Amino acid sequence: MRIIKCDNGNIVMVLKEVLDTSSKEIKANNVDASFEKHVPQFEMNDNLVRVFVNHVMEDDHYIEWIMVDYGTEQIIKHFVPGDEPSMMVEYRKGMKAYGYCNKHSLWVSEEI
Ligand SMILES: [Fe+2]
Repeated sequence: MRIIKCDNGNIVMVLKEVLDTSSKEIKANNVDASFEKHVPQFEMNDNLVRVFVNHVMEDDHYIEWIMVDYGTEQIIKHFVPGDEPSMMVEYRKGMKAYGYCNKHSLWVSEEI
């Protein structure tokens, strides 16, 4: 999974590798900020998993989206300030999750 930030601020999930020089890959877990408040966490409930980020959801600082990555399939949920940055999804072995903070960039969990 590669996620690119363009000079105009767009964030793009790469479906085919055709990068140009005006784009750069976002490296996950690469910003000096609290790991625990940014990395997506999992709460198992039978064959479902609650994926969430333990982060504030203030007007100027919040989690913009969480993406569950099953390898061959991804599910994304977007959030606005005041929302709870959480989603329920099916558990599949080897899944992981990304979260994007508007101030502290991209974070990714370990596989579960
Ligand atoms: Fe943050």
